[in-house]
This record gives sequence, structure tokens and C-alpha cells, in this order.
Amino acid sequence: MKIGIIGGTGREGKGLAVRWSKAGHDVVIGSRDASRAAEVAEELNAEFGVSLRGADNAGCCEGAEVVLLAIPFSGHEATLTALRDALQGKILIDITVPLQPPKVRSVNLPEGDSAALRAQAILGEGVRVVGALHHISSDHLMNLEHQFDCDVLVCGNDPEARATVVSLVKDLGIRAFEAGVLKNAIALESLTPVLLFINQKYKADGAGIRLVGLGES
Ligand SMILES: NC(=O)c1ccc[n+]([C@@H]2O[C@H](COP(=O)([O-])OP(=O)(O)OC[C@H]3O[C@@H](n4cnc5c(N)ncnc54)[C@H](OP(=O)(O)O)[C@@H]3O)[C@@H](O)[C@H]2O)c1
Repeated sequence: MKIGIIGGTGREGKGLAVRWSKAGHDVVIGSRDASRAAEVAEELNAEFGVSLRGADNAGCCEGAEVVLLAIPFSGHEATLTALRDALQGKILIDITVPLQPPKVRSVNLPEGDSAALRAQAILGEGVRVVGALHHISSDHLMNLEHQFDCDVLVCGNDPEARATVVSLVKDLGIRAFEAGVLKNAIALESLTPVLLFINQKYKADGAGIRLVGLGES
């Protein structure tokens, strides 16, 4: 697939870009600064033997079927408002966890709301917003030797978009499951601060979640 990554110069975006490129997808890294995106793409191509390109954030949306948003919550509203037209007709994967540093081990969702729901409200029904990947560590993504033993839950209102994202997450080497409507992102975004607390308390290297009780499915 053709994938654009808004904020692809950052910790989470780089690992996703490398893994999807390795899996055969055509990935463009986006940045507020096109030259920074090009530099990061070149560095990753040299280090990992992949074929990434760089563009500004609007440019990485051009021609993409799926766009992933990988920026801090502080820039969420302004970035999506600016890219509203560029994103029409696409699937947007929103991995944002609304954290309020330095209190990152405490849930910070606006009551009854979530980053993904806000994204849908800003972008309108012309964009199929899907929430996913909230619990996947950037360090694990960047380490291509790392074997994931956790699951990713994927929520969104459009079943076809959810299924597409489940398939893309599997291409990263991670088990993935559909987890209902976009409103369920409230649960997924809330769980990350819990895992961050567990990481600190038990000196864990990226605690995740794994579903049990699935039987043969
Ligand atoms: N890191 C993780 O392990 C992890 C795990 C799960 C989910 N997440 C979520 O993934 C998202 C990205 O996390 P990250 O750790 O990759 O973040 P990050 O490295 O701090 O930032 C990612 C990129 O966002 C851009 N950016 C920074 N501030 C911005 C602003 N105010 N407006 C627009 N763009 C801005 C920057 O790119 P340019 O300067 O090049 O534009 C930066 O390289 C967050 O919402 C986080 O909650 C992270």
C-alpha cells in the first residue's frame, strides 16, 4: 500500500516506516520540514536497506491510501485542521495517546472524548479514522530483531478500514484484532498510561497486552 506518516521523523514513526517498507509497502515520511524528512529518510535507507522518501506533512498524504498520524497530542488539533483537505478520502490511523507530560503515567483523556474521536470530528466523515498501535514501544519497533509477543487492538467505525489496518499491523510482525467502533479508542488511549506506570514500577522494557481466551480463533 501507499502509506504516508505525518511526523514520521519521530520515534514511533521511524520504526513503523522501516518495518512497513521492509514488508514491501511504499512509505513516505512526513515532517513540518520537508528537508528534515528527506534527511531522516536517507539515514534510515542507509541503516536498514529500505526505500523511504521524505516530504512535508501535506506531501506525505499525496497519493497515500493510508496515512498514519505520529505526533504528540500537543500538535494534534492544529496539524489535523491544517491537513483536513489533504486527508479526504483516506484512512487515517491515529496512534495518539493524549498524555500531559510529565504526568505520563496518569490518564489524561478529555472526559467522554479521545484523540481519535477528536480527529474524526475535525476531519469529517470523508476520512475513515482508525485508532491503533497505542501500546507499541518505539524502541521495539526500531529493533528489527525484536519479536512482538503482545497484541494490537484496532477500532474504527468503518469495518473495511479496520480490516485494512489489522492487515497492516500484521505486516509489522504484530498480532492484531478488530476491537469495535472508534469510541472504543477511549479504552485503548487510556491503557497506555497504565502500561507506562507498570514499566516504571516493575522496571519493564515496554509492557504490552495480550488477549487470552480466544480459543482456535
Ligand atoms: N514513542 C512511543 O513509544 C509511542 C508508543 C505508542 C504511541 N505513541 C504515540 O505516538 C505519537 C508520536 O510519539 P513519538 O514518541 O514518536 O513522538 P516524538 O518523537 O516526540 O514526535 C514525533 C514527531 O512529531 C513532530 N512534532 C513534534 N511536535 C509537533 C507539533 N507540536 N506539531 C506537529 N508535529 C510535531 C516532529 O516531527 P517534525 O519536527 O519533523 O515535524 C517529531 O519528530 C504520540 O501521540 C504518542 O502518544 C508513542
